[in-house]
Amino acid sequence: MMVRPLTCSTRVLKIHPDTPEEGPLQEAAEVLLHGGLVAFPTETVYGLGALALNPEAVKRIYQAKGRPAADPLIVHGLDLPMLQPLTPLDLSRLEGLRQFWPGPLTLVVPRGAQVPLEVTAGLDAVALRIPAHPVARGLLATVKAPIAAPSANAFTRPSATEARHVLQDLSDRFELLLDGGPTLHGLESTVIDLTEEVPTLLRPGALTPELLQPLFPNLLLPAPRFEGEQVALKSPGTQLKHYAPRARMTLFKGSSQAVRQAMRDELEAHLALGLRVGLLLCEEDLLAFQDLPVELASLGSQTRLEEAGARLFGGLRLLDERRVEVIFSTLFEEAGLGRTLNDRLIRASEGRVRPVP
Ligand code: TXA
Ligand code: MG
Repeated sequence: MMVRPLTCSTRVLKIHPDTPEEGPLQEAAEVLLHGGLVAFPTETVYGLGALALNPEAVKRIYQAKGRPAADPLIVHGLDLPMLQPLTPLDLSRLEGLRQFWPGPLTLVVPRGAQVPLEVTAGLDAVALRIPAHPVARGLLATVKAPIAAPSANAFTRPSATEARHVLQDLSDRFELLLDGGPTLHGLESTVIDLTEEVPTLLRPGALTPELLQPLFPNLLLPAPRFEGEQVALKSPGTQLKHYAPRARMTLFKGSSQAVRQAMRDELEAHLALGLRVGLLLCEEDLLAFQDLPVELASLGSQTRLEEAGARLFGGLRLLDERRVEVIFSTLFEEAGLGRTLNDRLIRASEGRVRPVP
């Protein structure tokens, strides 16, 4: 059997995000069919894909990302007929699913016998998603087989929302990157576990529980995480340190006025020590710090949480590129997309939340 080296040179092909060209799709499908890895845009974040039913190819995903073998992957399909053989659960019986698939929703369901245990990290459940991005769909339609793909970032790093983020982390660790520009949501899919009696939210994501209400009226929402908490890991990818920048990040929590003051005090103390500080904040808050020698990353207007979602991971990476040692940010109101933003921020800061009275 051919053993592939861990490094190879990564080719990058530009592709139109709305009307993807045949050429790059064909090339990417060839790579996958030969057991290789292809990174491609989805409407959430970039994914690093291999043919889901090829266990050797799937193992290479873990190697490329430095991802622990205990962390299962999402299987992407073009449509229900492509995914149905992967689970004994009758997907057509999930009324209302059509409203969200294709889209940023992942369902954890009982694993069908043909899904390799390498995909599910040994679990008897498999995560399934039908992506909406035309490039992801074009690739699935060309290769005509399900694709296992985690987010295309190195383990614990912020997810990649642009092709260059993928290269920052994984260059020369996979064969081909389809560069379809920035992704729409910038936050990963919402993961819901359907293997228990009551549907449970495993990972908040681009689709809010409020929007999912018609499909899952009794959805169980776990409480948000706080500092120092030890968490039981039902969904292995949900450990606290995740999406983390290199800098040490602290989140300020409180009223806008009090937070700005506390942040300024802390900032000045850090600057006095000669530390490089970055701020990841909404436009309205950033205005209050423009007089200080700090690196600024904007989350857009605080009135548009979708924009904050699209900018979050890129902002963390930007501050890393500027080599800041410390990042200050704030928590959002814990509702709607704010729940997802807070989840990512809390993990990126490894739970360092500073309540401001
Ligand atoms: O938006 C997304 O979901 C992106 C794009 C590429 O589709 N993918 C993504 O994959 O974020 P990844 O591997 O970074 O996150 C997958 C999440 C993890 O939290 C993992 O634990 C959970 O899904 N998951 C996957 N399979 C599971 C399973 N069998 N049981 C429980 N959780 C599972
Ligand atoms: Mg990930």
